[in-house]
Amino acid sequence: MEGPVDLGARGKGTLQVGFRTARLEDRLREIAAEGVQAGVTAFLALAMGAWIIGMFAGERIGRVVSRIEILAADPGRFRPLRAGLGLGGDEVSRLAEAFNRMGASLKAETSRRRELEAEKQELSAMLVHDLKTPLTVIRSGITLLADLADEGGQRRHARTFELLEMSTARLQRMVEDVLQLAKLEETSSLQNLHRVDVLSLAKDCSTDFELVVADRKQKLELRLPDEAPPPVLGDSALLRRVLDNLVHNAVEHTPAGGVISIGVLRDGEGVTVSVCDSGPGVPVSARADIFRKFFQKDVKRHVGNVGLGLALCAKVVARHGGKIGIGDAKPKGARFYFTLPAAIEPSPADV
Ligand SMILES: Nc1ncnc2c1ncn2[C@@H]1O[C@H](COP(=O)(O)OP(=O)(O)OP(=O)(O)O)[C@@H](O)[C@H]1O
Ligand SMILES: [Mg+2]
Repeated sequence: MEGPVDLGARGKGTLQVGFRTARLEDRLREIAAEGVQAGVTAFLALAMGAWIIGMFAGERIGRVVSRIEILAADPGRFRPLRAGLGLGGDEVSRLAEAFNRMGASLKAETSRRRELEAEKQELSAMLVHDLKTPLTVIRSGITLLADLADEGGQRRHARTFELLEMSTARLQRMVEDVLQLAKLEETSSLQNLHRVDVLSLAKDCSTDFELVVADRKQKLELRLPDEAPPPVLGDSALLRRVLDNLVHNAVEHTPAGGVISIGVLRDGEGVTVSVCDSGPGVPVSARADIFRKFFQKDVKRHVGNVGLGLALCAKVVARHGGKIGIGDAKPKGARFYFTLPAAIEPSPADV
């Protein structure tokens, strides 16, 4: 305030009015700080809330997703999502409820299908097994009759007996393949494991096919390595079946005058066995599928063949920890081969 002020007997003077702003400024600063604090706290609370909600929803979705993955891998392992997931209401819950319904029906369907499959397999294994006995009787009967007819000078029957003999042999082979394949599919590990000398296996196979090959005017060669290959750990009957099937295919696909060769090679730490022929070969387009069951490349298939031979070969080789493949023979034809790992030498502690 400016200007003179009447102070009565004391004359005139000046009145000065004022207040200290320092405290006010301090207070204002306090208020501002409290405001910022409250804002930050509110923001943190909000962010925290959103994070918790997100985590909760994310965790629930994560649980649904992992159950879907289990269901997709094997419907038989389906377990419903429990109410603890918060069933009822929101989208995640509806998803979980739909998942529970779908999983339950898939599980029921899968177990019904598996029961039927097991019954079917058991029945066909029994049937196939029972076929073996009458087949053996028929085959020996034919051989006996053929000999009798020969002795009685009835040579004109010779061709009929030959055909009968060939057909029963083929039937026996088919029955054997179906049985072996079913056995391999049933069990996960091989029984009857021994040290197998692949070289002897190849020699025996070549001897057994001598007559068949001669009958077809074909030539069978045996190519053996200078250095004996290491023994493999395996089921010799099954490995022989692999060789027989490959040679049988080679015989069937090679024309008269053609050559079939069985080769054994020491291959790194293992052994490679190959069967080459001079037939038409297998086109590259069919090679990926040729080891599948019932796959037959030729439209004009060989009568009586079912397409199981190579599937059995592939399964047996895989069970032995080996690899099977197909390529070109030189100068033409198919080259089927399989590699087997060498048997691991027992350590001194095992002996
Ligand atoms: N050496 C080969 N040369 C040309 N094609 C072959 C040869 N081996 C197999 N194949 C083809 O592969 C198909 C499958 O062979 P696989 O041995 O699995 O069955 P299959 O001989 O037809 O019947 P199965 O062996 O069960 O009596 C044959 O049908 C044939 O088309
Ligand atoms: Mg075959």
